[in-house]
Amino acid sequence: MTRPSLELTHERPRWDDHAVTLVTSEPLGPHQRLVLAMPALEARFEPGQFLNLSVPGHLLRRPLAPSRHEGTEVELIVTPFGPGTRDLIALPAGTRLQALAPLGNSFPMPAGEAALVGAGAGAAPLAFLAERLLCAGRTVHVFHGAVSSEDRPLVREVYERLGIGAHYFSEDGALGRRGYPTAGLAELLAGGADVTVYSVGPLALMRAAARLAIEHGRPGYVSLDVHMACGVGACLSCAVKTTAGQKHACVDGPVFEVREVVW
Ligand SMILES: Cc1cc2nc3c(=O)[nH]c(=O)nc-3n(C[C@H](O)[C@H](O)[C@H](O)COP(=O)(O)OP(=O)(O)OC[C@H]3O[C@@H](n4cnc5c(N)ncnc54)[C@H](O)[C@@H]3O)c2cc1C
Ligand code: FES
Repeated sequence: MTRPSLELTHERPRWDDHAVTLVTSEPLGPHQRLVLAMPALEARFEPGQFLNLSVPGHLLRRPLAPSRHEGTEVELIVTPFGPGTRDLIALPAGTRLQALAPLGNSFPMPAGEAALVGAGAGAAPLAFLAERLLCAGRTVHVFHGAVSSEDRPLVREVYERLGIGAHYFSEDGALGRRGYPTAGLAELLAGGADVTVYSVGPLALMRAAARLAIEHGRPGYVSLDVHMACGVGACLSCAVKTTAGQKHACVDGPVFEVREVVW
């Protein structure tokens, strides 16, 4: 059995509170693509890290993981979930916001190939990781899950622009194969591929991807979507149960090795 060989780095990032400007806001099916200008961001985002973004009219900021960081511009894919994200995607270009960034840890590089398993806005940090891996000459397998064909604009924007031959799955078969993206992962692992598994999406998807990685003795990482308030380790609202005791997703994560999480 192959043992997980990668270490997560838990270096505290150098974050700051940045004045940012919303330069683009456009729909991607049910999601929204936002581009923020962050001219004073000196420490660059690593794939998996996040920012905690202010939303006018809401006391708490909302954590969001970039899908891209080029120059001074940071791209986000936002899925409306509750009042905060609904208000955020309705803001016009030109709106000035505040963002604590960059926050949290990042995905470690794989020893061999990488299998990325995501759904919805989970595609955002995974696409950022895919871009980084492709630049490093790594082989990347992508399995994206959607409810229906509604995610076509999203996958075109985040994966097809990278030239990745991603495998799509949808519950009704309208986008790619009928079923869940973990079916594609299971086939890849059954073929004995030397892959590290990365998953971001609904908890059930990440749990299933984690189970497959563990069954096949492969390293695996998930980015946990935990309710956060401060984003910097001060309020303890983002507690996660791990095999090493209670940790906090904003500073100890959001990326965790799959064997570390108490599912
Ligand atoms: C590290 C990280 C990165 C993220 N990246 C993205 C991204 O790139 N794109 C994206 O669309 N979303 C992302 N999310 C999820 C996003 O932050 C939440 O959907 C958002 O905070 C919800 O806020 P809201 O005001 O819309 O809903 P709320 O009204 O705050 O939420 C309604 C209910 O859900 C609960 N809740 C709030 N936030 C969360 C949460 N994160 N998980 C579970 N329950 C929650 C609240 O307690 C409340 O009961 C990320 C979350 C984390 C932790
Ligand atoms: S969000 Fe406050 S400690 Fe993690």
